[in-house]
Amino acid sequence: MIGTATSNGRISITGIGSYAPERVMTNDELAQIVETSDEWIVERTGIRERRMAGPDEALSDLSLPAAVDALEQSGLDPASLDLVIVATVTPDMAFPSTGAILADRLGAKDAAAYDLSAGCTGFVYALAQAHGMLAGGLVDRVLVVGGDVLSRIVDWEDRSTCVLFGDGAGAVVLERVREGGFLGFELGADGSGGSQLYMPAGGSRAPATAETVASRQHFAKMNGREVFKFATRVLVDSAERVLDECGVSVSEVDVYVPHQANVRIIDHARRKLGIPEERTVVNVDRYGNTSSGSIPLALGDAEVDGRLRAGELVLMTGMGAGLTWGSALIEWTANGKGGKG
Ligand code: ACO
Repeated sequence: MIGTATSNGRISITGIGSYAPERVMTNDELAQIVETSDEWIVERTGIRERRMAGPDEALSDLSLPAAVDALEQSGLDPASLDLVIVATVTPDMAFPSTGAILADRLGAKDAAAYDLSAGCTGFVYALAQAHGMLAGGLVDRVLVVGGDVLSRIVDWEDRSTCVLFGDGAGAVVLERVREGGFLGFELGADGSGGSQLYMPAGGSRAPATAETVASRQHFAKMNGREVFKFATRVLVDSAERVLDECGVSVSEVDVYVPHQANVRIIDHARRKLGIPEERTVVNVDRYGNTSSGSIPLALGDAEVDGRLRAGELVLMTGMGAGLTWGSALIEWTANGKGGKG
């Protein structure tokens, strides 16, 4: 799916918030759990530490403070929300949706609410959905959350995966605006690669039994080398396609926010695209790969650092389980102020 996003008026992010659990887990701590080292993890991934949810913290607990901050920045009363979308692969439970739980906790009593599953690309997919509903006139105010508590589905006996992931969430509010806003989206999926990154049990294919638990099938499995190849390819292809569709050259991109999986993947993509390091947002060193939380957490960091200024072009590209990928190009609208449509 690809398209420009301005034909039905301008729609933008008018508020942003993010939240990561307080508990920091360093590489040295991980080295006490599995056979690994700080040196190996930093060299292969760039990750130095990640955040871990506490035993009582589920996705809605991480999403709530992020959502409250995003709503405050946009100046919206939660009760005025029409729609809440939560992109995740680790909802509080299979049902009800974390979207519905979050909407209730926020007091968004008039909002439709649901979860969206597109692996680490979930946040970008959710932006495109929210955009479509706004452009179609179905809604006026949307909260989009991307977040995951991957520590719950990581196999802490598998050193090839457990060193990569962390917990966190980010939230944005989308509304119609007068200036700036989304310019286009490119989204894709290749289910033939699904077995490269998956969780075998817990669904209708292999419901929970003593056997699925004993054989560790309720944990994420990944073919790291294949996912690495896929990631380096789609991060570049998807970004080039959305820029081309929008008639924007790569030199015009002010801020590049790629999925935070691995510094080597990010460096490869930005070099191939020709985006300088100083325009690229990287926080994987501090959070690891937080799946659907990755891009909104990075956006949140960039915002706090003053890197997101009105009129600047921001390119986001995600990729992940599915296998899926997606890019969004937006002209930033400052702090939700002055420009609402
Ligand atoms: N510590 C020490 N050694 C390790 C570790 C570890 N944590 N993990 C693997 N090794 C060993 C392997 O066993 C292997 O040893 P061997 O040569 O004796 O067999 C050696 O290190 C090299 O293993 P590789 O898998 O070849 O290492 P590679 O350089 O490919 O790095 C990595 C592995 C970091 C997982 C890389 O493949 C990668 O980043 N893949 C992409 C993963 C990813 O980003 N996934 C998420 C994207 S989608 C989403 O976000 C959900």
